[in-house]
Amino acid sequence: MAKRYEKPVITRHQSGLMNKIGAAPLIAPRTEIDGIPVTKLVEEFGSPLFVLSEKKMRQNQRNFYRVFKTRYPKVQFAWSYKTNYLNAVCKVFHSENSWAEVVSEFEYDKALRLGVSGDHIIFNGPDKSDEALLKAVRNHSKIHIDHFDELYSLIEITERENIQADVAIRINMDTGIYPLWDRFGFNYENGEAWQAIKRIIAAKHLNLTGLHTHIGTYIMSADAYKIAATKLAGLMKSIRDEFNILLEYLDLGGGFASNNTLLGQYLPAEQMVPGIEQFADAISAGIFEFNFRNDELPLLILETGRALVDDTGFLISSVLANKRLSTGKKAVIIDAGVNILFTSFWYKHKIQPAQETGIHTEDTALYGPLCMNIDCVRESIVLPSLNKGDKLVIEYVGAYDMTQWMQFIAMRPNVVMIMEDGKVELIRKSENLDYLLDREVMPEQLK
Ligand SMILES: Cc1ncc(COP(=O)(O)O)c(C=O)c1O
Repeated sequence: MAKRYEKPVITRHQSGLMNKIGAAPLIAPRTEIDGIPVTKLVEEFGSPLFVLSEKKMRQNQRNFYRVFKTRYPKVQFAWSYKTNYLNAVCKVFHSENSWAEVVSEFEYDKALRLGVSGDHIIFNGPDKSDEALLKAVRNHSKIHIDHFDELYSLIEITERENIQADVAIRINMDTGIYPLWDRFGFNYENGEAWQAIKRIIAAKHLNLTGLHTHIGTYIMSADAYKIAATKLAGLMKSIRDEFNILLEYLDLGGGFASNNTLLGQYLPAEQMVPGIEQFADAISAGIFEFNFRNDELPLLILETGRALVDDTGFLISSVLANKRLSTGKKAVIIDAGVNILFTSFWYKHKIQPAQETGIHTEDTALYGPLCMNIDCVRESIVLPSLNKGDKLVIEYVGAYDMTQWMQFIAMRPNVVMIMEDGKVELIRKSENLDYLLDREVMPEQLK
């Protein structure tokens, strides 16, 4: 019998919602952080509110150290200030034996003021003034030279002042991660790094003590680190063989991916990102390839940022309004915008309601409070029905949000830290108009 014609129909399936591919996810509320109710945090400190967990920070740091130390005998972490340089955060990492890794003079001074000794400060970055360099030389800090002009400045400064400086160079290289991060440091493949090494060794007042690379950020390939470690360790061996100089350390930088899922990523980060053990295996294997004697093994320095702190940070936000866009799509406006959640340009943050909700979910556009079109926290996220005043908890926001945030239309909010003993401490006060106006100067003729 001939088949009967049926008119085709197009059914629109929305990812995450109930459809023929699967069931809608149940959205469990997140009502507390480290045992403290979200409602209590907001009552006391307002909304939006950044919350950091001291306990998680210490757990992460101890776990990373343990994982590396069991694979390689000499390990030192240096806290990457730019990832989160709130004093309380830096202090937690320093109290877990991390040195400081800074990329500007103000970060350098911040580390000094926090009591980090000069020789435990790694000074990276392309912008180091002569004054900053001299200060770092006098403090015996580890200066990682970024370009030839900086090298020439250091040669001049140390000769003029007749002092010795401990230096390393930052090296960029092909590790299979594209586009290459070749704007920082000296290139490995074209011989530039080797030229810089020879010039440093020839300088009377410079001591070459280490080699540094930072191959990129949110790197999901452990193999890339193996290549990087092999290239640095190979250079170290050549320096020993050719100049009889034994370097003290190899600094593999930061860059391990965190638990956040990238916008373009289909699977959640938990299923995509290698465990820290894989990165540690790759790096130690790269160094061990060269059969250094035990007493020659370099100190392995790591400048891990996001992977250590991202999942220690939460942003609590309140619903301001519900809306329907002209397409019929649902929109929710919350009081936290992209000015304080810069990472929403890259990440699909985990976002949960902070209270029980109904089971009906809908594809929703999540907007911040700014009167600017760019203020979209998420173009599309499955959320339950929310009422004005309901709270959301946005994870993981410990890395870069509290340094790249900006006072634009809205002020920066309070930041609290839940301490290990359960106390909640304010670690950065919200900004107000006085704070803003304090920096402004009115010309006499306009008064
Ligand atoms: C030199 C250097 N070290 C460490 C870091 C920290 O990187 P991440 O947060 O990806 O671990 C960065 C960040 O870009 C960096 O530039």
